[in-house]
Amino acid sequence: MAVVPASLSGQDVGSFAYLTIKDRIPQILTKVIDTLHRHKSEFFEKHGEEGVEAEKKAISLLSKLRNELQTDKPFIPLVEKFVDTDIWNHYLEYQQSLLNESDGKSRWFYSPWLLVECYMYRRIHEAIIQSPPIDYFDVFKESKEQNFYESQESIIALCTHLQQLIRTIEDLDENQLKDEFFKLLQISLWGNKCDLSFSGGESSSQNTNVLNSLEDLKPFILLNDMEHLWSLLSNCKKTREKASATRVYIVLDNSGFELVTDLILGDFLLSSELATEVHFYGKTIPWFVSDTTIHDFNWLIEQVKHSNHKWMSKCGADWEEYIKMGKWVYHNHIFWTLPHEYCAMPQVAPDLYAELQKAHLILFKGDLNYRKLTGDRKWEFSVPFHQALNGFHPAPLCTIRTLKAEIQVGLQPGQGEQLLASEPSWWTTGKYGIFQYDGPL
Ligand code: F6P
Ligand code: MG
Repeated sequence: MAVVPASLSGQDVGSFAYLTIKDRIPQILTKVIDTLHRHKSEFFEKHGEEGVEAEKKAISLLSKLRNELQTDKPFIPLVEKFVDTDIWNHYLEYQQSLLNESDGKSRWFYSPWLLVECYMYRRIHEAIIQSPPIDYFDVFKESKEQNFYESQESIIALCTHLQQLIRTIEDLDENQLKDEFFKLLQISLWGNKCDLSFSGGESSSQNTNVLNSLEDLKPFILLNDMEHLWSLLSNCKKTREKASATRVYIVLDNSGFELVTDLILGDFLLSSELATEVHFYGKTIPWFVSDTTIHDFNWLIEQVKHSNHKWMSKCGADWEEYIKMGKWVYHNHIFWTLPHEYCAMPQVAPDLYAELQKAHLILFKGDLNYRKLTGDRKWEFSVPFHQALNGFHPAPLCTIRTLKAEIQVGLQPGQGEQLLASEPSWWTTGKYGIFQYDGPL
């Protein structure tokens, strides 16, 4: 097996991982408890006393969780039976087996950061499913919806842009089409600034027209492999036989504004014939506050369709049609909410890996996907992306991510060190973004 560096961890006092575990995730837990409190009367109306009792139970489980976290207690196995419970418990045991006797038990500040964060969101889910009849409740739904409503103006601007573009798309020459593709890719990139786990669950919507800011944001794209994406897809388009398909997979990240930017990109891929099918992958349970579930996906398309704005509602109607015709397909898979790095996918979720191998291109949205692609490890800045993927090469892939964690590979020698010297928090504020491609050139 290849030698890989150690995981990012809360053990490194002062690191972004440490600060996240110490400050940000307890804050998220507190917000979750508060959300449940605020829904008490809704639970009563729906389920009577039973609903109120369930709310109390969920709150007490979550308060216990917060206490475990703040006092750095050992991880405990999951207890409630769910599709992934055994895989999770097995993984917790495996992590324990990696420790030396003197390290004691796996716990919050002494485990890989990726595991810690995933474990917390999975335990939140466990507290909810242990509390019927409110076991359907998505504690983050409100903030995801708020992000969508607060981004209305930007969404209208994007939908209008797309609809006008589609009307003239046949008249565009190759270069103009490429320019439009690049514009929508960049919009999808900057849409990734709207992650709610980063802001501790506080609103982080998009209320300026991002189309007007693209030029100003260009200097903040640290790695830009957009040209490779264009070559790949325009080649597929040129060489495609009549009845054959070009499949682009988008591994989604956040709902709300970012999801709109991804759907706009997905629409453009079909309208430009750069792809004939777009497959979206979302999360099966509420995850990292703002990540997209099937409910968010359907809800958002419904909202867009019923907008009073002509072009926005046209987008929603078209998107629904794509789904009906099977040109857009949404997929669920439990793997996306496991703590494993993606190089473990062939062993842990061979069915998913086989599915991904059918893609012509996979776009991984967001920071968490980047962390899982690279194993959330302390790689040197100049290590090639291909190497950091550690054997995960199902198909040509590209990550589209704003940087919100202390991890970045594939930079020029000295580039990361220079950024660090002039701007110590350059890789954790979401200010910079990347398009990083791995695949045939
Ligand atoms: O805690 C903040 C944070 O967890 C990041 O460190 C993490 O990688 C990110 O949120 C999730 O971001 P994204 O929504 O882009 O995957
Ligand atoms: Mg996210």
